[in-house]
Amino acid sequence: MTTQQCNNNRRDFLKYLAASPLCNALAGLEFAHASTEAGQRITSPDQAIDIFDLKATASEVLPPAHYGYMATGVNADKTLRANREAFENYYLRSTRLVNVRQIDTRVNIFGEEWPTPIVIAPVGSQKAFHSDGELATARAAQKLNHLQILSTVSSTPIEQVAEARGAPVWFQLYTLGGWPGVRKMLRRAEAAGCPAVALTVDLPTSSAPARHTLQRAIRLDSRDCAVCHEGSGVAARQKPMFEGIAADERDRRGMALTWDFLEQLRQETQMKVLVKGIVTAEDAERCVEYGVDGIIVSNHGGRADDSGRGAIDSLAEVAPAVNGRATLLMDSGIRRGTDILKALALGADAIMIGRPYLWGLGSFGQAGVERALQILRDEFKIAMEFAGTRSIREIGPDSIGMV
Ligand SMILES: Cc1cc2nc3c(=O)[nH]c(=O)nc-3n(C[C@H](O)[C@H](O)[C@H](O)COP(=O)(O)O)c2cc1C
Repeated sequence: MTTQQCNNNRRDFLKYLAASPLCNALAGLEFAHASTEAGQRITSPDQAIDIFDLKATASEVLPPAHYGYMATGVNADKTLRANREAFENYYLRSTRLVNVRQIDTRVNIFGEEWPTPIVIAPVGSQKAFHSDGELATARAAQKLNHLQILSTVSSTPIEQVAEARGAPVWFQLYTLGGWPGVRKMLRRAEAAGCPAVALTVDLPTSSAPARHTLQRAIRLDSRDCAVCHEGSGVAARQKPMFEGIAADERDRRGMALTWDFLEQLRQETQMKVLVKGIVTAEDAERCVEYGVDGIIVSNHGGRADDSGRGAIDSLAEVAPAVNGRATLLMDSGIRRGTDILKALALGADAIMIGRPYLWGLGSFGQAGVERALQILRDEFKIAMEFAGTRSIREIGPDSIGMV
C-alpha cells in the first residue's frame, strides 16, 4: 500500500469513527473529563461519584437565588476561582514500599480527638438550602463524628443545634450587635457548652454589593420570596442568635473590627479563641502575639475580598510564621481528598469545608451532608494510602512539591 492509500484509508476510518455513536459517547466523556468539576445530576446520595455530583444536583434542585447565595464569590469570582486553581500548583510526592494497610486519619484539636481532619465550616442561613437547615447538618455531624462550627447568622438557635449534634459545637462570631449583643451571644454559646469561638475578621464591611453572581441569580428567580424572607435579600430573615438584641444594634459596622476587639474578646470569655480569615504571615504573627489559640486561614470561600489569591497559597505563607504556636486550620476551595493532604502537608492541623456539605444539604438534606463528608473521608484515606503516609504525623512538607 502506498503512503497516499494509507492516508486515505486512515481518513476514511476517522470519518467513520466521527460519525459513529460510540465516538459521540467517547467525545462526551472526554468533554466531561475536561470539565471535571461539572458533576452530574443524581437522584440519590449514594450515586454521587464525587462531591461535584452533589453540586450539579444542588444547582438544579435549589431555587436560583438560594443556589446563587451559596455559589457566589465577589465581582468576577476571581478569588473563588483562584481557590481551586491554586491547588493545581502543588503535586503529591508519594513514598513507595510502605505498608499502608492501616491508615490512621485521627487528629487532636485542643485536646479532643476527631476521626478525621475535616471540620464543618460555619455557614449562615442553612434553611435556605433545606428546611431542616443546621439541624440536618448537625445530625450528619453526629453520625460521622465531625466538629461543627455554627454561624452567628445561623437560621437555627445554638441550643437546638447542640442538642441535634448531641455534643457542643463551636461558635463563629460576627461583631453584629456591638458589645452588648456580642456578650449575649457569647453567654449563649458558653451555656450551650461551646469550647471555642471563631471570630471572623475577613468581612470588616459587607461584601453584599460585590456578590454579582448572587445578584444575577436573583434576577433569574421569579418566585415570591415573601415565603422565606421578611425583608429583602436571601439572608434577611431574623436570626435566632440576635434574639434580645435591638434591631439598630445589629449593624456589624457599628463596631470597628480591630485588634482591640480581639484583645477584649479574649478577656470576655473562657472559650478558646480562634481568628478566622487570616491570609498573611504578618497578621498571623500578630494573632499569636495576642495569644489566640487558633488561626483559620480562609478567604471566606472567595466571598470577601477580591484578592485573587487562593487560600492554599495563603496557608503556605502563614504556616511557617505560626510555626506550631497556634492551632492552624484552613478552608476555601477544598474539594478532594488530595486537597486535604496538600493543606496538611503545608502545615494545617485540620481543614474546613463549606460548599461541599451545602451541596449535599441542598440536594438531599442530612443524607446529602453525610454523603459529602463520607466522600471526602474516603478520598482522603485513599490519598494517604497512595502517598505512603500512614498517620497525620507522617504528612509533612516532603509529601508535596510545587509545579
Ligand atoms: C453560603 C455561605 C455562607 C457562609 N456564611 C458564613 C458565616 O456566616 N460565617 C463565616 O464565618 N463564614 C461563612 N461562610 C464561609 C465559610 O465558613 C467557609 O469559610 C467557606 O465556605 C470555605 O470555602 P468553601 O465553600 O470553598 O469550602 C459562608 C460560606 C458560604 C458558602
